[in-house]
Order: sequence, then structure tokens, then C-alpha cells
Amino acid sequence: MTSSQATGSQDSTDQGGAEGRGPVLSAVAWPYANGPRHIGHVAGFGVPSDVFSRWARMAGHDVLMVSGSDEHGTPILVQADAEGLSPSDLVDRNHRLIVEDLTSLGLSYDLYTRTTTANHHAVVQELFAGAHANGYLVEQTTMGAVSPSTGRTLPDRYVEGTCPICGNTSARGDQCDSCGNQLDPVDLIDPRSRIDGESPRFVESQHFFLDLPALADALRTWLDSREAEGTWRPNVLRFSKNLLDDVRPRAMTRDIDWGIAVPLDGWRDLPTKRLYVWFDAVIGYLSASIEWARRSGDEQAWRTWWNAPEDGAGPRSCYFMGKDNITFHSQIWPAELLAYDGLGERGGAPGRFGGLALPTEVVSSEFLTMEGGKFSSSRGVVIYVRDFLDRYQPDALRYYIAAAGPENQDADFTWTEFVRRTNDELVSTWGNLVNRTASMIAKNLGAVPEPGELTDDDAALIATVRGGFATVGRLVSEHRQKQAIGEAMRLAGEANRYLSDTAPWKLAKSSDEGDRARMATVLHVAAQAVTDLNTLLSPFLPHSSTAVHRALGGTGAFQPMPVVEEVTDLDDVSRTYPVITGDYSGAPAWGPVDVVPGTPVAPPKPIFTKLDDSVVAEELERLGGARA
Ligand code: MF3
Ligand code: ZN
Repeated sequence: MTSSQATGSQDSTDQGGAEGRGPVLSAVAWPYANGPRHIGHVAGFGVPSDVFSRWARMAGHDVLMVSGSDEHGTPILVQADAEGLSPSDLVDRNHRLIVEDLTSLGLSYDLYTRTTTANHHAVVQELFAGAHANGYLVEQTTMGAVSPSTGRTLPDRYVEGTCPICGNTSARGDQCDSCGNQLDPVDLIDPRSRIDGESPRFVESQHFFLDLPALADALRTWLDSREAEGTWRPNVLRFSKNLLDDVRPRAMTRDIDWGIAVPLDGWRDLPTKRLYVWFDAVIGYLSASIEWARRSGDEQAWRTWWNAPEDGAGPRSCYFMGKDNITFHSQIWPAELLAYDGLGERGGAPGRFGGLALPTEVVSSEFLTMEGGKFSSSRGVVIYVRDFLDRYQPDALRYYIAAAGPENQDADFTWTEFVRRTNDELVSTWGNLVNRTASMIAKNLGAVPEPGELTDDDAALIATVRGGFATVGRLVSEHRQKQAIGEAMRLAGEANRYLSDTAPWKLAKSSDEGDRARMATVLHVAAQAVTDLNTLLSPFLPHSSTAVHRALGGTGAFQPMPVVEEVTDLDDVSRTYPVITGDYSGAPAWGPVDVVPGTPVAPPKPIFTKLDDSVVAEELERLGGARA
């Protein structure tokens, strides 16, 4: 498993990677292993993180892209109960399904692992021990909700009731989505269980709390530095700053029997006290980096992405997620890192991992809805990634998400819009350009032609397209992918216009030698434009980039693809599990590459599938059927 820089021959300096070529950690939210992924999930964390990571590798950054399945906690227990499975059987099955989903979308993780590994448990416990030694984890007694009928504790988010602050009648025990305030279940008016509607009983319970007030100043300093950098989406920054107005200690343990034990004497062996998701899944970014390093043969390699050099800024780290996860990433996780590092008001010193760097960017998307409503697996208002990809091309979904996804505001997926975007944009603008170019070359010349002297229009088109490496690159670097793909498609439109203006198909019919020579020049220029556009579009459309590359006589894969590997747990040889990994060292460079005259070009097959209008009715019927 190697993470490496692009090795293309072209120099990509000044090609949109203007901030240099340092290491980049691409940290992708950990999905719950409670079922397969639907397109709402992959629109939030999946496609945006992959587009960014592919671009960053191409621009010469040393990228480490990590994530995994979140396999502990109540969502898993509730689903396991519902299916009559043990939690471990449930997560084994779902982890495998999720791995397939994410791989078939082409998401280029260096390591996609899981939270039930021995390595993850050990890393979480090291962080807990370090933060505890520094005095930021304190024991307190709280009132926990218990189901009267089963005697089981009810986790915060499974208790619902009226918010004591704003009166919202469907506030959750951890927070009110209406006013944004953090709550405890005991605060709710008329509390009831979301599982069966029962009113919970409240009993005293001992827990460890992360002392956020002792870390608040350090958090604020960090957020101010992020604001000064000016790279965060305004809504994410605003939300994160608001969180600091109401900091109080947050419980990091739960009364539950499925999860990671508290690594302290007197707690270690308690079967029903486990670390909460806030002190479990988020630490996966670090544990997956460490697992990746251990598997790569250089156990310390992870430090490049986590330890700041003595005299320099820390590495760039971008965290990708949906907006329901902002609190995790802009408050809880940085606070845990500060606690481990010993940088809160109680002081302290880092443990054996050394000082760990805080996130530089929290990139949160908004929500995707489906045909005007919320996705709901239970009501069948959903389309799973696997079902989608059984019927449509992965790059059609990736295109839709990049062009019309919930980047800055909630977005709605509709089948009408999916068909329109696929046909009018992907097929008509881009697919058609590739197709026309390759088929005219194949039919009239059989190989990429040598150009004659370029006219101003010829040179202008090439320069315009190549200008995209700076503009599109900067937009992707700044997480403005909607604009980025819009710009790349605008450039494809320019190339189409060039073909309409120069009409090489007319020149082909001419018996005049000058016309034939001009046709060769035009097709050379068109081939050059297609080649560079393909590079520009390839972070978005990695699967079809190989087809485009081959349509113009290229060989091999253009964008490297992830693979599923069955591995043995590093610290427990009795256990194997699938991971996503890949060798991305062959990623093309982010910059122009001159076409080679004489490269044979065969008649192309269409790159993208045009969709029949009947797709809309068919898919709506499937949804309607599920709804009924
Ligand atoms: N699985 C949790 C959720 O989906 C947490 C994901 S984010 C991470 O809400 F922090 F755990 F990575
Ligand atoms: Zn409220």
C-alpha cells in the first residue's frame, strides 16, 4: 500500500497547486455499518473527498486518504436487534457491503478499514490514557435514561422529547436540531424512547467527561486561526463558533456493552461501560493512518500527516462529512487532540504519538434529499449505491453529485434532473466531443495527425483549455467543486464550438489538398483539447477517463482505481477482513500533455450511455412501490 506523488513527466508547478506540494491528509467521515450506503451518504462525504484527493495527488501532493466503517454504538445494536443478528455478524456483513459500494464508485482510499480492529482499539485507548493523564477526562455522576421494559440504557440520541429551550417537540437527547443547543436526555420535557415510544426511567450512572471548558480557549484560538486563513465555508465556521458559546463537559462513555473498553483500572473490566462514538470513530482517522503505515512496511510513516515539524506549520488536513457531523469534527475531535497534546488550560504533555496536528479544514456538505423528501431506508424512499450502479454508470452518479450535489446548500436528487444532466451535459457536451473527435480521426486519418501551422483560433482553444489547470485546480483546492466542474464543462463547450466553427467534416469531403491539410490541423487541435480536458475532468470522472484516454489511442488505465484486499488483523491473526486500498502512484500529473502524432485511433464506442426518458417513470414507480 503506497501513497505517493504523481509521477507524470509534466511539471505541474503553477497548475492550480499554488500552495505548494506538502502532505495532505484526506480524512473521510466513517459511515455506520448499519446497512449499505445510499446516494445521500456518498454525496455528502464520498464523491467530494475523492475528487479532492485525486486532484491533490495529480498536483503533486503526498496524499493519505483514510476512513472506515463505524461499527460500534447504538445504531449497530438497534439494527442487529431488528435483524436478529449479533452485532459482530451484522457489522461483518455490512462492512463488506459498504466496501463494495465505495469501491465501485471508484473512491480512492489509501486505507478504508473498520473500528473493530485491534489496532483501532489500541489507538483509541492510547488517546484516552493520554487525555486522562493530562487531566482533561473527568469522572462525573449523571442521570442516564433506561428502558423500563428491557432494563437497557437508552443512548442520548434514542430519547426524544420537547426541547426545554425552544419548545421543538422532536428534540433528541443529545441535541435539538431546531435551535442547535446541546442537551442531555434528562433535560427533555415528555421524554420518550425512539425505539418503542416508552417513557424512560432515569438512573444515576458514572461516566467520563471531556472537560471542554478547560479546552475552550485553545479551541477558540484554533478556530480563529482557521477563520484568518479564510478557507472554511462560512456556514461551517459560523456553526463551529456558535458551539463555543455553550461549552460544557461532554460524556465520552456510555452504558452499553458493544464498543471499546475504558483503559483504566476499575473500568477496564466493566462489561457495560464503553467509549462513546465521540471517543471512538473520530479517532479512526489517526488509527487508520497508523494501520496504513504498519501495513506499508514503515511503521512511522503516518507521522508525516500528523506531527507538525518543529519549526513549521502542520500538514494540511481536510475532513469531509455531512453537516450532522460538524460538531464531531470542529469541536470534539480537535478538543481530544488538544487534550492529548496537553494544550488546554490544565497543561500537560503529549503521549507516545507526540503532538498531534489539528484539522486545517472541516469541509461539510449540506443534505441531499430525494424527490423532495428525506431519504428513509425504513420507508423505502432511498436508492442504494449498489442498485444505482446496477443500472447506471458510476461516473454519471459522480457527475450528478459534483454538478448538482449539496455542496453549499441542501440539494434534491430527482430522476428527471439525473436524466437531463446525464443526457444534456455528460453525453451531449463531453461524450459527444470525444466521440466526434475520435471518430473523425479514425475515419479520415487512422491516427492522431501532425498539425500544420496553427491559426490564432487553434492556439486560442489550446490556451483556453490549458488555462483550466490553474482555474479548475484552484477551485478544487478550495472545495468549490460545483464551480470547478462547471468550469471544466464550459471549456468542453468551447471545444465543441471550435469544432462547429471549423467544421472538419466539411473539410473532409473536399478534394482540395489545402482543405484536407486544414482538417488534419483542426483534428490535431481537437485531439489536444480532448486530451487536456480529460485530465481536467478525471478527478470527477475517473472511470470514463480511461475510456477517453483509449479512444485517442492511449493504453492502460488513466486514473488508478481502488481495490478490495482481504487482510489479516495486525494484532489478532484469527481475524481477517476486507479493506479498500490502492496504488495511486500512477496518477497522471495535473497539467497539459502534448498528443503524439501518429498514435493510432480506432472508431470509438460511446463513452457515456444516453438514458431513455422512460427511466424517470420506471424509477419513480420503483420508489412509489416502496412507499406504498
Ligand atoms: N458514524 C458516525 C455518523 O455517521 C460518525 C461519523 S464521523 C466520524 O454520524 F467522526 F466518525 F468519522
Ligand atoms: Zn431547541
